[in-house]
Amino acid sequence: METPRSFAAVDVIRAKRDGGRLTDEQIDWVVDAYTRGVVAEEQMSALAMAIFLRGMDTAEISRWTRAMIESGERLSLAGSRPTVDKHSTGGVGDKITLPLAPLVAACGAAVPQLSGRGLGHTGGTLDKLESIPGWRAALSTSEIQAQLEDVGAVVCAATSGLAPADKKLYALRDVTSTVESIPLIASSIMSKKIAEGASGLVLDVKFGSGAFMKTLDQARTLASTLTSIGVDHGVPTTALLTDMNVPLGRAVGNAVEVAESVEVLQGGGPSDVVELTVALAREMLALAGISADPAAVLASGEAYETWCRMISAQGGDPSAPLPTPAHVHTVVAPASGVLASLDAYAVGVAAWRLGAGRARKEDPVQAAAGVLCLAKPGSAVTEGEPLLELHTDTPDAVPAALEALEGGFSIASAAAAPEPIVRETIRGTV
Ligand code: URA
Repeated sequence: METPRSFAAVDVIRAKRDGGRLTDEQIDWVVDAYTRGVVAEEQMSALAMAIFLRGMDTAEISRWTRAMIESGERLSLAGSRPTVDKHSTGGVGDKITLPLAPLVAACGAAVPQLSGRGLGHTGGTLDKLESIPGWRAALSTSEIQAQLEDVGAVVCAATSGLAPADKKLYALRDVTSTVESIPLIASSIMSKKIAEGASGLVLDVKFGSGAFMKTLDQARTLASTLTSIGVDHGVPTTALLTDMNVPLGRAVGNAVEVAESVEVLQGGGPSDVVELTVALAREMLALAGISADPAAVLASGEAYETWCRMISAQGGDPSAPLPTPAHVHTVVAPASGVLASLDAYAVGVAAWRLGAGRARKEDPVQAAAGVLCLAKPGSAVTEGEPLLELHTDTPDAVPAALEALEGGFSIASAAAAPEPIVRETIRGTV
């Protein structure tokens, strides 16, 4: 067997620092050596900053992704149904996985959603589901496979062996100001999804104040990078570019987002959540080769039945009352008119400060904390009418939440017509 080549980390760092491209061998070596602790944290910090400043071309990004996949195990979740996966780059009030996974499963696909917890102003899917009494996030690979076969949908914690290089590198990027790099974000997301064995992938790439990517242009570049990595690895990948300037739906937090998802599954809920859930479901079903109409399946109640089975299979009680907050503070409209703007970032930070999110990964979250947006842009409001409800178990968190909301909404005599939530679609076929 050929012995893999080894390099000096400083030479790899220097090559990228000076704007060169890394060879396949350099990438394979540096990712593997970093995972094994041979390349030191300070050397990888320097390389991550060089990549941040100099970028990588598509072939380098694809190879970097492959090296991160190879750092750990690959799951095979293939069973009797076609498997299709979804990933969102994260936003405020983004509870879409909750109605989407059971909806697509009710249409006949298998949907494994290996998810994470929240950090910063965007919430985590597992934190939301953990507000359901009894629900369990940690499943073994065989439990995931059995539930996919039986129910068709699983939302659970990612197993620890998936892309360990990404786990280390993501933690390092977080503390070295190298998160917002398209090559590093794209390889991080796709290494985990490809290692999970996705056979088709739909990406919700968000842009706007509440998203990683602030502009549509940046989101488009990220989406094309993500789809080209998918195609390069044989995974058909579709990306929807979606608006995250305004929170999705009315609920932002944990239990409140579960309650809103259940409303959607029961045929109601806010129209933007329904619109995005159905749009993503259509793309997932197209990749799975299933011709069902997700809007009709949502209206029929079948997706809600699948939700109940999915929650029960993981120990949760879908009919148990959800936690309620010890304290509710109402923000009222300061004037009459039309709500002209409601800033996703401001609402996300407010919900986080109320206890819905965490500042460090070991912090607990409050199940009942969050923000309810009683009006959305375009709604007529009257002075003194409730606009936002701040939910928390720790009332001393309210002043900091109110501070986050300063300038976060505006009332005018008229508001611009709302734009569609899905702006563009990029399809990568193999
Ligand atoms: N999500 C990821 O998994 N990785 C990133 O780098 C950013 C968002």
